[in-house]
Amino acid sequence: MEKLTENAAFSANELQWLAKVLDTRFKLYFNNPCDFTNITEIAPPELDENKGTYAQFIKDNHLKAEERIALILALAPYLKPELLDVFFTRNVNYDRHFTEFGGTKGKNFNGFIPTGETLLFVIGGEDVAARLQMHFFLLNHSILIKKNILRILSVENYEPFMSGTLSINSEYLSFFTSGELNKPNYSIDFPAKLVETNATWADLVLDDYVREEVEEIRTWVAWNSSDANSSLKTQVKPGYRCLFYGPPGTGKTLTASLLGKATGKDVYKIDLSMIVSKYIGETEKNLSSVFDMAENKNWILFFDEADALFGKRSQATSSNDRHSNQEIAYLLQRIEDFPGLIILATNLKSNMDEAFSRRFQTMIHFAMPSVEQRLRLWQMAFRYIEHDSSNIDFKTIAQRYTLAGGAIVNVVMHCALQIQKGNTITEAVIMNGVKKELYKEGKTI
Ligand SMILES: Nc1ncnc2c1ncn2[C@@H]1O[C@H](COP(=O)(O)OP(=O)(O)OP(=O)(O)O)[C@@H](O)[C@H]1O
Ligand SMILES: [Mg+2]
Repeated sequence: MEKLTENAAFSANELQWLAKVLDTRFKLYFNNPCDFTNITEIAPPELDENKGTYAQFIKDNHLKAEERIALILALAPYLKPELLDVFFTRNVNYDRHFTEFGGTKGKNFNGFIPTGETLLFVIGGEDVAARLQMHFFLLNHSILIKKNILRILSVENYEPFMSGTLSINSEYLSFFTSGELNKPNYSIDFPAKLVETNATWADLVLDDYVREEVEEIRTWVAWNSSDANSSLKTQVKPGYRCLFYGPPGTGKTLTASLLGKATGKDVYKIDLSMIVSKYIGETEKNLSSVFDMAENKNWILFFDEADALFGKRSQATSSNDRHSNQEIAYLLQRIEDFPGLIILATNLKSNMDEAFSRRFQTMIHFAMPSVEQRLRLWQMAFRYIEHDSSNIDFKTIAQRYTLAGGAIVNVVMHCALQIQKGNTITEAVIMNGVKKELYKEGKTI
């Protein structure tokens, strides 16, 4: 809450400064009497006093005055829309608004929405050199664009690029106001979900060999985020791609979330079967925003049901197929260029072509657990469930039934519900749960 108050106070100062900058720009533009000869003479507000995230961000990133103007201009429609009403000034010669101010209008929002052109006008006015300089700097060097905090939204091909809306990323909008960097929510625009786990490495039951492979990925993530070997890093292709394959419930998703937890990175899961089947045509844009964000924030990307990718690379028979092939090509390219860790998971590896498998640094087989592993899974899963261990023979259950960790967890769930109903957990209750799981897989006891 304190952050919010600090940010509110700071943005009020920035807005006041912007108002003065705009007033000056207009006076200079219309050759009206003015105290300044250039907007650069108007000093931006001091940063030192304020403890909010907005001021801190400016400090940490050494933002130039022009970048601060870009930021507050993009924030203004949210914070104080009427401040931009001056841009509605009409050009009496033509009885229309001034082309040079740029700007656009929303469907619901009645105020002025700044575009890239608006920013160039505020910074450079009629000075072509200043405008070009700003243009170049913003697009090539500014951290605001690099980190995707500000974007000039794309326009139709035939329209000037800078006529796109100057837009602030919604996460940063909340970061500069409430002080919280919200985790983005799943939507068609952002088709990825944060996956987290309460488990620890000790809970993960894997073959020694598989565990070593997983450890290696963890080491790569640490190596990649460290400053070491920077010359080597320029020589190898950036990024690390691995495939987790194996039957359902064998720990693929769990391992991916544990890798995130161990390396302090967020893991975002993208369900490919859904994307490839449902959103053909819309996905390129949306996926690219996920990739952009992931790059900036060092996320780990986890593509679930990755068979949707390699299974679909089919002979195109309809225009839909062609479209989806195009989209898949795009996705593969982004996967290949991604500088961080990407994990793809699938139940089916068999129909993957060689061209595809060559793209991975590692392929890890999550096999069905062995008898010993199953016993450990049973014992661990029942740690927190009250049961009469003297009468339950987990060893025999583990020997007899080839269930994966996921199915065993389901049996635990079944038992927890029985306890809720007032029943005690006996071997018979557990066997009922086992039967259910086998039945799901089309097997019977
Ligand atoms: N190897 C394992 N070690 C410990 N727990 C496991 C293991 N495999 C599965 N589990 C338990 O089962 C749950 C489900 O496993 P998980 O979601 O990781 O399976 P998956 O391989 O991703 O399956 P799917 O292919 O269906 O997505 C885990 O959250 C965990 O509780
Ligand atoms: Mg999974």
